Amino acid sequence: MNRSSDELLAFIFDRISKIASIHEQDELLCELANMCRDIVYADRCSIWIRDKQQGILWTKIAQGQAPITMGEYQGIVGSAVEQNHSLIINDVQADSHFNHEVDKQSGYVTRRMIVIPMHNRSSEVVGAIQVINTKGDIPFSQTDLKHLHFSSLYVAESIKTMLLIEETYKTQKELIYIMGETGENRSRETGQHVKRVAEYSYLLAKLYGLDEKACSILRDVSPMHDIGKIGIADAILNKPGRLDEEEMRIMQTHATMGYTILKHSKLTLLKAAAIVAHEHHEKYDGTGYPKGLQGEAIHIYGRITAIADVFDALGSERVYKKAWSDEAILELFVRERGRHFDPALVDLFLTHQEQFWAIRDRFSDV
Ligand code: C2E
Ligand code: SIN
Ligand code: SIN
Ligand code: SIN
Ligand code: FE
Ligand code: FE
Repeated sequence: MNRSSDELLAFIFDRISKIASIHEQDELLCELANMCRDIVYADRCSIWIRDKQQGILWTKIAQGQAPITMGEYQGIVGSAVEQNHSLIINDVQADSHFNHEVDKQSGYVTRRMIVIPMHNRSSEVVGAIQVINTKGDIPFSQTDLKHLHFSSLYVAESIKTMLLIEETYKTQKELIYIMGETGENRSRETGQHVKRVAEYSYLLAKLYGLDEKACSILRDVSPMHDIGKIGIADAILNKPGRLDEEEMRIMQTHATMGYTILKHSKLTLLKAAAIVAHEHHEKYDGTGYPKGLQGEAIHIYGRITAIADVFDALGSERVYKKAWSDEAILELFVRERGRHFDPALVDLFLTHQEQFWAIRDRFSDV
């Protein structure tokens, strides 16, 4: 049941051209797994990643079943990884390496399998591609193995890129946390404040209907909105009383200062952080600072963080003010709807306010 070489090439190019337009790495991997599965007329394809540090294999893509983790040399996949060679097994149930637990848990009967280890440039095994069962229960052949081997080169390349992106992202997040806490300590606000602003922002973004990726980016960067306060003198930042006009002018430079610190970064997260630092004191009616932007000209990240920040500031004690009552806080949001704040966001906030109070209670300062 093999395709002719011409058919195969046509098939691959059709798939690759689709893949080229996919930007999301997870979708790309799914698409590659589909391709591997269909090239050999298999029922399922899993993509396994090896985590050498933890000594495990886990399924990055596991078609038709829950993700699986197992020891790096466990099962048939593990034995292919350990010996670093491909395996065709047409009677899986009789194979001594087979990990029967997997079938027991999924209720699926694995009969036939091809496993192909994937390598990095230094020829280390970084994972494996596994196809399971065939349409019509025809045995897997050497030709299937050859075709799958060819495809696995693409998959390995994509996984390398994907892992690199995840690593960079993790580094960015750590950096942001350190920076957020720097701003925190300077203005004597608690670590809980950072978490609350993150969660309020995430919730508002969700309610507003931003996609999950945009929401989680905002959750990561909103705590950094005041990073520019590291440039404000202690005498002003921690002044017990009200700021005079000149002090307030200086204080307001924190928005531009934060933007200046972050604006040159090409990293996704830091670019988003720059927007938030810059625009979290803009007001919907155009009377905010530093640019006096109006309405939707203010980035959605800025409009959301403005609400999260003020909601939290009002409910908290500051060196210059006491915490407000819940009633007074709600009154302010009703009054400032369409003035300070985006009316659509205020409506969402008011309608779902019990979720915001719950976050405040969960991350309370005591
Ligand atoms: P913050 O204390 O975290 O306040 C963030 C924002 O919450 C404020 O931005 C403001 O929009 C709102 N907010 C906080 N407290 C009150 C309040 O008592 N009444 C009203 N109506 N709104 C409030 P804003 O005004 O741009 O201030 C930015 C930052 O400047 C503040 O962050 C705080 O660090 C500092 N700041 C502002 N006013 C004073 C002050 O009188 N004394 C001192 N020491 N710092 C101040
Ligand atoms: C194994 O490799 O033995 C089990 C893995 C699987 O069936 O998915
Ligand atoms: C998104 O939903 O993808 C983000 C929207 C925005 O950044 O304005
Ligand atoms: C500010 O927005 O300038 C201060 C708000 C905060 O510290 O959360
Ligand atoms: Fe601020
Ligand atoms: Fe803040």
